[in-house]
Amino acid sequence: MTRFSRIGFILAAAGSAVGLGNIWKFPYVTGEYGGGAFVIVYLLAILFIGLTIFIAEAVIGQNGQSDVSTSFVNLSKSKNKNWKFAGFMVFTGLIILSFYSVVLGWILNYVFTSFSALPTEAKVAGAAFEKLISNDIGSLLVYHTLIAGSVVYIVLKGIKEGIEKINLILMPLLGLILFGLLIYSLTLDSFSQAVSFMFSADWSKINGDALLAALGQAFFTLSLGVGTILTYSASLSENTNFIKTSISVALVDTSIAIIAGLIIFSFLFEAGAPSAAGPGLVFISLPVIFSGWGVLGQVIAFSFFIALIFAGITSAVSMIEPSLRFFIERFNITRAKATLISGTTFYILGIVALLSMSKSFSTELTFFGKNAFDLMDFMTSSVLMPIAAILTSVFLGYFVDKQTIQDKFTQHVPLAVFNIWYFLIRYIVPLAIVVLLLNKVGIIK
Ligand code: PFF
Repeated sequence: MTRFSRIGFILAAAGSAVGLGNIWKFPYVTGEYGGGAFVIVYLLAILFIGLTIFIAEAVIGQNGQSDVSTSFVNLSKSKNKNWKFAGFMVFTGLIILSFYSVVLGWILNYVFTSFSALPTEAKVAGAAFEKLISNDIGSLLVYHTLIAGSVVYIVLKGIKEGIEKINLILMPLLGLILFGLLIYSLTLDSFSQAVSFMFSADWSKINGDALLAALGQAFFTLSLGVGTILTYSASLSENTNFIKTSISVALVDTSIAIIAGLIIFSFLFEAGAPSAAGPGLVFISLPVIFSGWGVLGQVIAFSFFIALIFAGITSAVSMIEPSLRFFIERFNITRAKATLISGTTFYILGIVALLSMSKSFSTELTFFGKNAFDLMDFMTSSVLMPIAAILTSVFLGYFVDKQTIQDKFTQHVPLAVFNIWYFLIRYIVPLAIVVLLLNKVGIIK
């Protein structure tokens, strides 16, 4: 098994974490929950819960040096074989990838149109977006195929030549584009307004829903509960300081979300557009703003959407990798075969997701009142990821020999750090997530 270099791992894990969750979702959710107070809650969720589980996955992966199932079994107290069922989480990644690839396809459409057809009015922009996702099945299929093909091509090349390399190229480029956009937004009068929107807390909009949205976003943005961090850590050399590495990744991820928020809100406020525009924020509000800025606007539009593609592709490859490692190790098949199985699965599920949003097929592809796209989103982020996170924390807190993990920690950090983490993983994390889950299914209001 080839391995990541330390910097390769940091970039790949950061590449996984930094994605549409940071640049598309974080700003619009922050906008919907009124700004600053939500940002504070989100930062606390990252610090106390997200980072705790991130480190947990890193420990299991580092210790197991294998796929999710095998790593759980190997680390459990009596090597209890039942822990292999924890491997279900690798399929969560494939489901997320199915609809994530479709959204990346929408973005590809905006990359192509940024030089030709930026809409000048919100109404027109809204109608164009609506038309794309509900009528334009042909284009969407082409986009989805392009994205899925790229993902498969990259992972086929393996950890070092595929995943590490693409991250070594795209992550610095992404950083550069975001830096350029940040500098540009700094020149706008509205920048200070964006800063105060994001950092002055208005607690009136913080309710149970907001707390849960912040926690859900913390999971999603750090790529937790799908075995990605675990699988990547299994390809990191055993004496690496995984605590320091985990903290670096969480820091990079959080900084990029904040920077994306500052850029987008500066743009919105400059044009006097509302901050609470929901998921259409980057697809409807931003293109109209860009079109008002002439040629410069077109360049900015192109850079912005390309940045989203770069961020998204590095996340997409990380969603498929856990399943590849799982198939390779458990069924002893080649990487090519594993890629064929996982690739076909997510490609087909993606087509189902894509068609379920269209006018022609939405009725057939609606289940339990949700179209297949929304159902996949709901099942993964509200059910499967939290369950995997609870399982991971309960596993480490109660079913693994404490001394074994303690030794791993104290190779790199003082005992006090271990004690804090152990307390969080045993009590705080499972409790917080159970409350999240019960609230989602409506038992706690
Ligand atoms: N962290 C990614 C984002 O913020 O867009 C999403 C993600 C990547 C989720 C990888 C799950 C995963 F395994």
